[in-house]
Amino acid sequence: MKRFTIPVLLVSLVLFACESDYQKATKERVAQKKAEVEEESKVPASERITLDNKGVGPIKNIELSAQIDEEMVKRGMELFKTNCSACHKVDKRFIGPSPKGIMKRRSPEWIMNMILDPQLMVEQDRCAKDLLVEFNGAAMANQNMTEEQARDILEYFRTLE
Ligand code: HEC
Repeated sequence: MKRFTIPVLLVSLVLFACESDYQKATKERVAQKKAEVEEESKVPASERITLDNKGVGPIKNIELSAQIDEEMVKRGMELFKTNCSACHKVDKRFIGPSPKGIMKRRSPEWIMNMILDPQLMVEQDRCAKDLLVEFNGAAMANQNMTEEQARDILEYFRTLE
């Protein structure tokens, strides 16, 4: 009986040590994440760079061609004028943010998801949620764009540097 006591004690000690190391690491990770989120929250959502966030919605993956497609840009510009310019101006912040330079802040997937289902985005995506707060609760209206139309608008956004 006695022969087992020491090994058992040792094993328990090792297990205990491992566990507490693991817990410590987890705690550190949680604290670090919290600090990151707090740090990010100091930057207004409209100026945050969230390129690795694809948002939520129907668009999972978009490949952009190296060359901008001028036909798509033309269609996108018209669609933007008709459906978006009541709230978005290219040269300034208006009811919503200006799309100028948006490709440097947001991923193509995030932008298309925001166009296609702004309500879902505002409910589930932290950046979209924070934008809603920044823009005083003015919600972006769903303009019932098709995926193709949203893609044309995205191509137009590529020209707004
Ligand atoms: C009724 C006003 C309104 C209309 C119409 C509208 N939006 Fe918005 N949009 C907003 C507001 C306000 C926000 C900020 C987020 C929020 O409050 O939900 C926003 C946010 C966005 C964003 C995120 C911007 C950023 O900097 O991250 C994109 C992209 C966008 N809109 C694209 C469009 C496009 C494209 C159209 C037309 C198809 C459109 N919006 C139509 C009001 C509008």
